[in-house]
Amino acid sequence: MPIRLHINIDHVATVRNARGTSYPDPVFAAQLCEQAGADGITAHLREDRRHIQDRDLERLREAVVTCLNMEMAATDEMVTIAERVRPNVVTLVPERRAERTTEGGLDVVGQRATITKAVAACQRAGIKVSLFIAANEADVRASHELGVEQIELHTGEYCHQMAPHELERLRVAAGLAHALGLEVAAGHGLTRHNVIPVAGLPELVEVNIGHAVIADAVFVGLPEAVRDFRAALERGLALRGG
Ligand code: PXP
Repeated sequence: MPIRLHINIDHVATVRNARGTSYPDPVFAAQLCEQAGADGITAHLREDRRHIQDRDLERLREAVVTCLNMEMAATDEMVTIAERVRPNVVTLVPERRAERTTEGGLDVVGQRATITKAVAACQRAGIKVSLFIAANEADVRASHELGVEQIELHTGEYCHQMAPHELERLRVAAGLAHALGLEVAAGHGLTRHNVIPVAGLPELVEVNIGHAVIADAVFVGLPEAVRDFRAALERGLALRGG
């Protein structure tokens, strides 16, 4: 089964916002990604609106023809926006104002009440919910208990350390999540090199890639950067064997 390649276009908005211009346009970027074969577009509406703006999200909803994945914190404000915009998927992520990017996974056990409320509201609105979590048993089991459709495993530590035991942690968590009936996605820090072993995990059905694909695009253009990631996923799939 192919792996869904979702491209996060937040960095395009970051570049635009750096100069207060109307370009580069994240919606145009999303369309280029889709034309190059991306299966979905991911955008994170942060509480501080440092990159994607509310209007971007609305325009993305109109333009994206594949799958729009809205990353957001589990707050009342974000849930209200999701209910209005109706992305195909909401990925709940932890958010701290001072962080450079999403650090760590959701504390599904500790934040259970808040997350439960957000999950229920999104599901009532017909939106699929994914939880961005660290690869540990407690969070996988808690995610399952919350009744979400998908988890996204945080690959940051694996990418940082490139240690076999970090890949093993991902493998164990993916296996457990799949056995519990959850779809398994992965993301954070993935490049067209380190994504290959991750794509080799048999239970993986989706990756979310932002920083590296936009970085590659600076040199080779966005369509080619997307196609390079697709080729890397194919190499990972080949590792799965029979
Ligand atoms: N998945 C989630 C839930 C994220 O928050 C991010 C970062 O916005 C990504 C994937 C993409 O990470 P990166 O930009 O390092 O590829």
